[in-house]
Amino acid sequence: MTYVAPNSVQARDIASIVHPQTNLAQHLEEGPVVMSRGQGIYVWDDSGTQFLDAAAGLWCASLGYASERLARVAYEQMRKLGYAHLYRGTTNEPGVDLAEKLLQIAPVPMNKVLFQCSGSEANDTAIKLVWYYHAAIGKPAKRKIIGRRMGYHGSTSASISASGKADMHADFGLPFPDFRHTEYPHYYRLHADGESEEQFATRMADALEALIVAEGDDTVGGFIAEPVMGAGGGLTPPRTYWAKIQAVLRKYDVLFIADEVICGFGRTGNMWGSQTYDLQPDMISSAKALSAGMQPISALLINQRVFEAMLDESRKLGNFAHGFTYAGHPVTTAVAMETLRIYEEMDMIGHVQQVGPYMQQALRRFADHPLIGDVRGVGLLCGMEMMADKSTRTPFDASRGVGRIADGHARKHGLITRFIGDRIAFSPPLIITDAEVDDMAARLARTLDDTWADVRAN
Ligand SMILES: Cc1ncc(COP(=O)(O)O)c(C=O)c1O
Repeated sequence: MTYVAPNSVQARDIASIVHPQTNLAQHLEEGPVVMSRGQGIYVWDDSGTQFLDAAAGLWCASLGYASERLARVAYEQMRKLGYAHLYRGTTNEPGVDLAEKLLQIAPVPMNKVLFQCSGSEANDTAIKLVWYYHAAIGKPAKRKIIGRRMGYHGSTSASISASGKADMHADFGLPFPDFRHTEYPHYYRLHADGESEEQFATRMADALEALIVAEGDDTVGGFIAEPVMGAGGGLTPPRTYWAKIQAVLRKYDVLFIADEVICGFGRTGNMWGSQTYDLQPDMISSAKALSAGMQPISALLINQRVFEAMLDESRKLGNFAHGFTYAGHPVTTAVAMETLRIYEEMDMIGHVQQVGPYMQQALRRFADHPLIGDVRGVGLLCGMEMMADKSTRTPFDASRGVGRIADGHARKHGLITRFIGDRIAFSPPLIITDAEVDDMAARLARTLDDTWADVRAN
């Protein structure tokens, strides 16, 4: 049990906060890490220890941890109009500015924007719109939503139902009945010996088609997926995967929701993951880097086909009966708009296209480390796989908790990154420089060496 001083922030935290994605019993014993300030890609805890954040918080702190410019925009907006909503035909200029901008930069023609406060709410809204759309066009039975094993789309009841995270369903009585999951494209782990990426992609598309046929294509309404899987482990799709999956969706008239919550705004080296992988979604959910993580905002972009069906419903029902109190909040939209301006002024996409390959190369060198079986990524997103025996692609027994051991060593070496089982995901702030990539790689080398020493000792 860690010593926690009475009345410290740690003690007050233990007494007052339930933490998401945290072992609650362990937290009572060990208490929290208190982050107290940040600058650029570095954060400091309350004891003054510096960490390089190779995870950008939760994939969102794209501009790092402090911004005078965004602070000023929030301040000015709060002084001018600190709250407004979009209900019953009311609007505000920052919301309109941002919606216009998003439609202008959308990867495929999109018609309208719905605002929310989180990625979960954007995906929840998208799922509701799949149902609403099919009700509007006279196919109300087309309700089933297909997600992918290990996909992550949020924590609300519907968005986690679409997610393929068994640990997040357990004892919540989820997923809801209309949700199904198809296999995820983890080529390194799941390919058969001798199976090429293209053959594997065909197998994945065949599995999706078989699922749709087994369920009855007249009952399957939507498919939701991240262009690159984030919380599933930073998994890039194998070659030809997206072309083959999209052909199946078109064949059975299944609406495609691209969850760009992580990939949107430069992460993969283009403005959208949909551009990197040539996706043609009907809806796009975005959040996180939309406001550089500095305001809680998400945007769902919908195409004309979806909006026209909503219009028909409105003519029938009157009200579009959906919404959130803080949707289109002028402070969040003003900060998001300024974030997009900063990206343009800095040529953030150009920057990621330059530093992304540098990071991929630096991380790929770890493929030679005895602990690392595979390293793959795109732009400033990369996933690495720790294996018990890489020559035979044998994973560690989950009970060994190798990810947890490695996380402990990473923290000791001042590195924050995301451990997902035995995968390590990297998604540093988009502003990272070559020199900071070198710093990250040096901290990672020490982390992996210490982890390997522990693994061998046991
Ligand atoms: C791909 C993806 N979609 C949706 C979400 C949920 O977003 P939020 O936590 O803002 O609700 C996340 C969160 O990490 C995500 O990675």
